[in-house]
Amino acid sequence: MEREKPLRLDRRQLLVGGGLVAGAAGLGGAAVYALRGDGGPAPAAQPAAAADDDGEFALDGEHTDLTTFVLAPHPRRVREAIERHRAALDASPSLALLEGEPALEDAAREAAADYLGTSPDLVALTDSTTMGLGLVYAGLALAAGDEVLTTEHDFYATHEALRLRAERDRIRVERVALYDDPASADAGRLADAVADRITPRTRAVAVTWVHSSTGVKLPLADLAEVVADANRDRAPEERVLLCVDGVHGFGVEAASPVELGADVFVSGCHKWLFGPRGTGLVWATPEAWERLRPTIPSFSPQAYVAWLEGRAPTGGPPGPFMTPGGYQSFEHRWALPEAFALHQELGRGEVEAHTHGLATRLKERLGELAGVRIVTPISEELSAGLVCCELDGLGPPDAALRLRDEHRVIASVTPYATSYLRFGPSIANDEADVDAAVEAVRALTA
Ligand SMILES: Cc1ncc(COP(=O)(O)O)c(C=O)c1O
Repeated sequence: MEREKPLRLDRRQLLVGGGLVAGAAGLGGAAVYALRGDGGPAPAAQPAAAADDDGEFALDGEHTDLTTFVLAPHPRRVREAIERHRAALDASPSLALLEGEPALEDAAREAAADYLGTSPDLVALTDSTTMGLGLVYAGLALAAGDEVLTTEHDFYATHEALRLRAERDRIRVERVALYDDPASADAGRLADAVADRITPRTRAVAVTWVHSSTGVKLPLADLAEVVADANRDRAPEERVLLCVDGVHGFGVEAASPVELGADVFVSGCHKWLFGPRGTGLVWATPEAWERLRPTIPSFSPQAYVAWLEGRAPTGGPPGPFMTPGGYQSFEHRWALPEAFALHQELGRGEVEAHTHGLATRLKERLGELAGVRIVTPISEELSAGLVCCELDGLGPPDAALRLRDEHRVIASVTPYATSYLRFGPSIANDEADVDAAVEAVRALTA
């Protein structure tokens, strides 16, 4: 048997050779074998329609876009599924709903659960990370005087959700700095900083897996150990829950947050996962779900039947119960399984290796330029796909503007009080994109 070659998600495969991936949907596993280079049929075996198409992503091709992590461009199979569902909904919304629900929403939950390595019953569907964080921190059982420990490095959505909760219920929100200099962050010191600040009143540790402020990736398994130590002698309702905004690790890291030991995991699916825009999820352990209540009424049978019978809902799976009800942009939610299927077919290890590989190349090459300081750790243990840097004498907004206008390279600016220039090479990019960004930065700093 031919030895499996490592997957190279290069431009030919994902941008201009999308037939390889797109064809996989119609050909069962065959085209995926070709993509993976392990002896399946050659691309020539693809149907003519697939050979004609112009890529997995419909990026304009005029720019080198290193910000697909901000809001995902839909991969071909996601676009096609959305169009299919949209056509059915436009033809007859009621019939499409009758035919589609609840099976298609269940399929989305099942695909997410399969990817996470958990049960569909434990997965709630949301519109975004922000919605998930809002639901979790509004709905967590906390009494006046209880504490939530968060960090200085989290995104606005975590801090604001906690501030709103504190305003309402007189809980305390503490913040800890896990590092001063991101580039020299240290896994042991990060975990110690959290351990030192857990008190007998701490009920949750609210962290972000990969900081969009700096690109630092937290060692979740180490933090889970810290939390497990703190919980050793606690009653179930007093245990500290490790709650994670995982959006910049989800769809990059091969390891699932479930196996890494998170208690509550919140993510959008419209960043690195390349799912439909306006999709997201919350997963929690059964014990953590016990301590979470919905804020928005769900359309789950459990809640609805209880209402019809004039009683409060009891029992039933927590994921659907925590999924906000109301009619949705169903064509997007129903297309979510396609994004998980793409990652499963590419291979989680390959997606991680590709994304980390590009980020490492970018950090190493930018780091060789005079006048560039890399903010994100070089180590893959403490970083994922995000790459933050500073340029001498050129602020991040000006740098991003000049990269776009003078070099057609799209970068972003971290939306934080201390701000950096940020790139995020992904499965929509290849080494040529990274090199184009490096050359553009070289020109700016020359
Ligand atoms: C760490 C982090 N969490 C959450 C968000 C918001 O994600 P969503 O659009 O899924 O709410 C962002 C940025 O958009 C982010 O950087």
